[in-house]
Amino acid sequence: MQIDLTVNGKRTSLDAEPRLLLVHALRDRLGLTGTHVGCDTSSCGACTVLLDGVSVKSCTMFAVQASGHDVTTIEGIGDADELHPMQEAFWTAHGLQCGYCTTGMIVSAVDLLQRNPDPSDDEIRAGLEGNLCRCTGYENIVKAVRAAGKAMRENAPRSSVRDLMSIHPPAEEPPPSGEVIIPPQLQGAST
Ligand code: FES
Ligand code: FES
Repeated sequence: MQIDLTVNGKRTSLDAEPRLLLVHALRDRLGLTGTHVGCDTSSCGACTVLLDGVSVKSCTMFAVQASGHDVTTIEGIGDADELHPMQEAFWTAHGLQCGYCTTGMIVSAVDLLQRNPDPSDDEIRAGLEGNLCRCTGYENIVKAVRAAGKAMRENAPRSSVRDLMSIHPPAEEPPPSGEVIIPPQLQGAST
């Protein structure tokens, strides 16, 4: 059957079986692999996209259910040349570790701030409770969402997200190859 979608602002048609899930249409048919599959059971939120501006878990709906609607994936939120303030804040606040949950977290957080531009930390945690991070980096995720909210409320230019957080950007230069850096708390510990 034919499925007509607008994805990241571009109109797209797919010929697909009715059982095709939206996440597989995005990843396998349209090559938008920033949307991840973590659980396939609607538990983890890695597959989160915006449907007409509202976050949904794309493993939980058929592609045909999105026909006639606007879908925004992480690729439509921002890119390396023009990061969304939320992406900038996740980078600056180290709101990611392995990064597997990150795209879904960012999409959910963008939806949260659309509904509540100035959430408290508790509201951020509640707003992201459908997104799981296996690396358990939740503290920095909350910091990132708080900073992005401030930047967006103040319509701050991208570079000022760092200033708002008083956090320096990650070092541009990697450590010299072969050098092992031991955190102070582990120095002197037996192996
Ligand atoms: S893959 Fe959709 S919620 Fe986990
Ligand atoms: S950063 Fe690894 S799962 Fe969240």
